[in-house]
Amino acid sequence: MISITLKSDDSVKYFTIEQIKKHNKKEDFWTIFRDKVYDLTDFWKTHPGGDIILEGAGKDMTFLFDDIGHSHDAEILLKQYYIGEIEKPRK
Ligand code: HEM
Repeated sequence: MISITLKSDDSVKYFTIEQIKKHNKKEDFWTIFRDKVYDLTDFWKTHPGGDIILEGAGKDMTFLFDDIGHSHDAEILLKQYYIGEIEKPRK
């Protein structure tokens, strides 16, 4: 059998703010960062800044991240935790 993986927009997952808000626990920690959605459940324990990152669970942590003044490397490491996009209301 031939299996073909197509890379298209259909493979992108979209989540509503309401869905994201539910993932606000240590053991189930999603966050929004620059309009993208990340699952940080496996990352937060190794965060160099410690538990304070939990403040961003279930919400948009872009401001908190920028306010502290993180390195570009910190942004790059987020890529591996990417799970999708925020669903925009249809026009
Ligand atoms: C978007 C997710 C986040 C990632 C991937 C992340 C990653 C990192 C990394 C790699 C560092 C080491 C220094 C650097 O490279 O800049 C760091 C430091 C730090 N982070 Fe985060 N961070 C995130 C969110 C946050 C949030 C939301 C807060 C605060 C509410 C925070 C607070 C801090 C603090 C205070 C330090 C400094 C630790 C020190 O130098 O002793 N971080 N973070």
